[in-house]
Amino acid sequence: MDLRLDGKTALITGGSRGIGKAIASSFAEAGAKVFITSRKADACEHAAAEIGHGCEWLAGNAGSPDDADRAIDTCIDRFGGVDILVNNAATNPYAGPLIDADLPRWQKTLDVNLTAPLFWTQKVWNRYQKENGGVVINISSVGGLSTNPILGAYDVTKSALIHMTKQLAPELAPGVRVNAICPGLVKTDFAKALWEDGKGDQVAQAYPLNRLGEVDDIAGAALYLAADTGSWITGQILVLDGGGLVAFNKVG
Ligand SMILES: NC(=O)c1ccc[n+]([C@@H]2O[C@H](COP(=O)([O-])OP(=O)(O)OC[C@H]3O[C@@H](n4cnc5c(N)ncnc54)[C@H](OP(=O)(O)O)[C@@H]3O)[C@@H](O)[C@H]2O)c1
Repeated sequence: MDLRLDGKTALITGGSRGIGKAIASSFAEAGAKVFITSRKADACEHAAAEIGHGCEWLAGNAGSPDDADRAIDTCIDRFGGVDILVNNAATNPYAGPLIDADLPRWQKTLDVNLTAPLFWTQKVWNRYQKENGGVVINISSVGGLSTNPILGAYDVTKSALIHMTKQLAPELAPGVRVNAICPGLVKTDFAKALWEDGKGDQVAQAYPLNRLGEVDDIAGAALYLAADTGSWITGQILVLDGGGLVAFNKVG
């Protein structure tokens, strides 16, 4: 068994930078035809050129069912299917105690981080994977397994995404495997407020493996789950956090 995806097609939401782009690159290098989406067309175009290997893209909001329809239809039209769906796009518009969260930002967090992975999975299932099988990978977070003074709203959605993963795994088996990855702190734009200005050094020292995550740490695990190496794995939650959660049971 090797880490190859020859003949497979993969659709990755939020694939224009950070973890999503690294997953797209690793899948493309492993032989998959890769399709990425994100909100900004220029970022998608630029990322697709860097990913290479015939990577295609469509700009759209992951939280929009219409944009999901367009992306999935275009991917199937160009590549013939969606063997691997990576629900990676997420948002975190609110930082503060959950008890004070305003409803518009709560709703946006819920829409993009939880409702979207459900309807992307439903659409891909109904249009392709129900007949052809496949893999779904949800990018959750160690925050979904812990508590945090300022990330509560985001963490609730990531926790529910973990449960959704477990719920869908038996529902979509045996043809489709559904797993989640929970990264700790990874040096991307999304998490910049948590690692910039030296803050990351403190977190890195607290992690038993003494460093923050790199996007390729997450991409390697996603490739393992997507390829035949993961063929007996479904409904599982893979924590990649340098040992932070088991050592301290907290994020950052
Ligand atoms: N970095 C971390 O420490 C960390 C830790 C745990 C979990 N995660 C999870 O990892 C995933 C990727 O995060 P990242 O750190 O790689 O973030 P990132 O570097 O900020 O990249 C986010 C990507 O998602 C796209 N995006 C954002 N909102 C979107 C929307 N509503 N619709 C479509 N695309 C959208 C962005 O492009 P556009 O701006 O063009 O839309 C970009 O391509 C997320 O699910 C996040 O929750 C990250």
